[in-house]
Amino acid sequence: MIKKGIILAGGMGTRMSPLTKAVNKQLLPLYDKPLIFYPLSILMLSGIKNILIIVNKGQLSQFRKILPENNNLGLKIKYVEQSSPRGLPDAFILGEHFIKKDKIALILGDNFFYGQNLSSKLQEAVKLKNGARVFLHPVKKPNLYGVATINSKNEIIKIVEKPKKTKSNLAVTGVYFFDNKVVEFSKKLKPSKRKELEIIDLLNQYKKRKKLKAEFIGRGGAWLDTGNIEDFYNTSNFVSAIENRQGLKIACLEEISINNKWIGKKEIIESIKFYGNCSYSNYLKKLII
Ligand code: G1P
Repeated sequence: MIKKGIILAGGMGTRMSPLTKAVNKQLLPLYDKPLIFYPLSILMLSGIKNILIIVNKGQLSQFRKILPENNNLGLKIKYVEQSSPRGLPDAFILGEHFIKKDKIALILGDNFFYGQNLSSKLQEAVKLKNGARVFLHPVKKPNLYGVATINSKNEIIKIVEKPKKTKSNLAVTGVYFFDNKVVEFSKKLKPSKRKELEIIDLLNQYKKRKKLKAEFIGRGGAWLDTGNIEDFYNTSNFVSAIENRQGLKIACLEEISINNKWIGKKEIIESIKFYGNCSYSNYLKKLII
């Protein structure tokens, strides 16, 4: 069972400058919440409450204001600073002391997932005994992502980072589940041409040993991009459309926590005090009447 998760919330967000000059991208509003709430909600829906957040050097105090170690979410949050972005597998090197002898989930701080059955799929994924698991999803422009080719048994036969040409439209999304070997494998990786450790090289270590398994979000689910400003706003509009139609919030952390029985009425009241008089607090009030 995977009980720990890492959120990689570093990066300079250069594609969204000047918005990201003073504020980290993961703290920008995706509709009515900071972007980081969405990947954090995914870990929480998986049943993970022990969380390490990797942030850029100098930005820790920004994150602590909204997600303090001492929080009302029933979460055990720790932080580690990254002096420069060295690629996704660096998360497992920086997180070695947090991971210890355990298995680990990783989610990228700017990834947005939504869909029916997603929670049950995630809860299955955390049952991982050994090896690695990735979630695949079809996209129109696979060349922007890690791409997996599968056979008729849904086994991954090839996995490549941003291929110029590919017949597969299955992107490797930004949520990953690993056994403890991930630390050792990450330490042995060599930087790629773009001078970063590559997640695909790490996944290939598992594939080589026949230990890489594909899961699917399914076509009823959404994996949306927040990479550039256009995609960021489209995803924001998606959240607005769903929330305003249904009156239910996506990624309301307190709601997930109370449903998981990690917190009770008392913590919700504390949260309402923490956020102050706002529509998010009004939503929280409705959870406890
Ligand atoms: C990274 C990974 C890529 C993956 C993507 C998901 O890409 O390298 O394999 O498909 O995240 O968001 P990057 O964000 O570094 O372009």
